Amino acid sequence: MNIQFDEKQGIFKLDTPNTSYCIGLAEGRWPGQVYYGPRIDTTELAWAMGLDQRPNTPGTLPGEAVSFFDRYPWEYPVCNMGDFRSCCLAVRTEAGEVDFLPEFAGYSIVPGKILPEGLPGTGGGQEDCASLILRQRDPQTGMELELIYTAYGHLDVITRSARIRNGGNSPVRLDKALSASLTIPWKDSRLLRINGSWAREQCIDIQPIGRGFQGTGSARGISSHQDHPFLAVLSPDATQDHGRVYAMHFVYSGSFLAQVERDQFDQLRMVMGIHPETFCWKLTPGETFQTPEVVMVCSDRGLGHMTRTLHDLYRTHLIPNHNRKRPVLLNSWEAVYFDFNEEVLLNIARSAAALGIELFVMDDGWFGKRDCPSGSLGDWIPDPKKLPRGLDHLSRELEKLGMELGIWMEPEMVSPDSDLYRAHPDWAIQTRNRLPMRCRDQYVLDLSRPEVEAYVYQAVETVLRSARITYLKWDMNRPLTNLGSAVLEPDRQGELTHRYVMALYRIQKRLTRAFPDLLLENCCSGGGRFDPGMLSCSPQIWGSDDSDAYERLKIQEGLSLVYPLSAIGAHVADCPNHVVGRTTPFETRAIVAMAGTFGYELDVTKLSREEQEQIPGQIARYQKYQDLIRQGDYYRLASARTGNLDAYLVVKKDRSQALLTAVRPMNVPNSRRTYLPLAGLDPSAVYRDAAKGVSYSGQVLMHLGYPLDFGWGDHQAILAELVRE
Ligand code: DGJ
Repeated sequence: MNIQFDEKQGIFKLDTPNTSYCIGLAEGRWPGQVYYGPRIDTTELAWAMGLDQRPNTPGTLPGEAVSFFDRYPWEYPVCNMGDFRSCCLAVRTEAGEVDFLPEFAGYSIVPGKILPEGLPGTGGGQEDCASLILRQRDPQTGMELELIYTAYGHLDVITRSARIRNGGNSPVRLDKALSASLTIPWKDSRLLRINGSWAREQCIDIQPIGRGFQGTGSARGISSHQDHPFLAVLSPDATQDHGRVYAMHFVYSGSFLAQVERDQFDQLRMVMGIHPETFCWKLTPGETFQTPEVVMVCSDRGLGHMTRTLHDLYRTHLIPNHNRKRPVLLNSWEAVYFDFNEEVLLNIARSAAALGIELFVMDDGWFGKRDCPSGSLGDWIPDPKKLPRGLDHLSRELEKLGMELGIWMEPEMVSPDSDLYRAHPDWAIQTRNRLPMRCRDQYVLDLSRPEVEAYVYQAVETVLRSARITYLKWDMNRPLTNLGSAVLEPDRQGELTHRYVMALYRIQKRLTRAFPDLLLENCCSGGGRFDPGMLSCSPQIWGSDDSDAYERLKIQEGLSLVYPLSAIGAHVADCPNHVVGRTTPFETRAIVAMAGTFGYELDVTKLSREEQEQIPGQIARYQKYQDLIRQGDYYRLASARTGNLDAYLVVKKDRSQALLTAVRPMNVPNSRRTYLPLAGLDPSAVYRDAAKGVSYSGQVLMHLGYPLDFGWGDHQAILAELVRE
């Protein structure tokens, strides 16, 4: 197994193909991180457990416990015990004191993966990984802590989570229960975050790390448009293919905190977990709390290796049905918004089907009385004005055209103006003495209540059973506020958002079990809940409501840094673009949307004949490269974020085929030809660019570069296939 314990040295060593993670036990009692970096082949590390013992530097136990913990790289630091940096756990006893000091109490090393209970996690069998459980116990209070690690044998990934069990006699409250902490002994380094806002989600931001706290987080009840549950610490020299990167990614879809702190000794502590601001959890004797999972990657080959590691991990061990082919769809949202009826939809569908589009997705507006974003959420019955013959009839009409029907729902919500709200006003999340704040004129249903969870499941199931529906877009258009549940006991109100997130996973997993052929696409006003947790339920997530090709370059760069392209919902939309008013060439929009699940978000009947004629070719091209895009290795070559060129390459695992995408946002007059050095190819092979009728040596393509001959005008794109001869 790739995890071992050296009893003599008191060292646990977890190995992945290129990294090792070592844990020691200070005084045999406190697990601390000894090493995380390039793979080492020894456990002779007991010496590294000794802290600085220079004159006048306190750090010995037991007389100087505070000074000791103040600098100790504690695996899972607890609060109020002398470690004053960001801690992972705060346990408040019945007496109201924060008091918990766990000590090592044993371990198990087992083959395979230990999945977090009731929560998503990356999977893996005995042949893929091994797991370590470090058991700890507080002899004073009886409280127990288990730290759970999984190390993958074929990927440079270690996952972590924690379980806290009340083994005492009286109830306690967890004020904070993060999932993992990491110590990085670096002074000069940079922090990479992925952040943004609605319509400009997931943009990469890199800053130097100074003294104190830096990080990211969401208290919105969703992972959010603003901040992504991901952090990476980069060495000063780190680039795409060079330098060290430590990354943490949270497999969770609710509020989160991800922080780096550079302490008084210039070492970094990185922590990640559920945001403590709106959280607390009561544990009665015998009860256990399970934290969500953190995925950790250490790469000594820059960001590129981290990216490809995460892609492989999520493709093989997280995303359900990752390998299924995705139909080319047309979504009605930007085509008609709320303004449609059956005839309008079928009219678009007829043209779409003739052009080769396979799936017609009817977005918002088909139910209740919904002609604008107000009203009817919760009343999932077709609007008789718009769909007098119902969903089944629509699906049959589409079937005659050779198309499938997909549908939009926003099941977690209720409109104040709805029959559901009139019947169950207390089902909306709200505090006792105040009406909840409206956002998009809607409230959030309290999924922490079992009867609401059951209703939501049943509402969706009923719609799906009412017609031949093969695709569901599950939308969610507002954050959680006014956190209060009509049924939770006062001392459990802080459990609301976490209970909500767990119920959401249960509902979606139950649905996909009941409808195994259903293609589920999550969405949250675009990419507001694009996270590994949601990806464990649906193989794709709508990337952003911003479908402008240029804006999408930046959004999709951020997403593809951590997610495989097959997870990113991307469509060709209308111009001028509905969000930014920009006009880009139709062909560029189609090339950019290929770095995703590919579809159209426009009224095809309104396109020019010339544009319509391009669609069958675009679809055929997507079909041709779909497998490569879904399964290949991703290399980021240039970024529109930092320059006038965006480029990436997807290389087949055996390096026999590669697909290059390059977009030049602005034309530059009188400029020289650009050669773009490629990556990931076989240097000894010759690659043929059949479209150009030219062959290139792999070595030359990687060192000199591929010649980029862009067309005339702004926002020009190149898509080039290279096939090994
Ligand atoms: C937000 C989504 O991101 C859009 O694609 C669309 O489905 C609207 N909601 C519908 O209200």
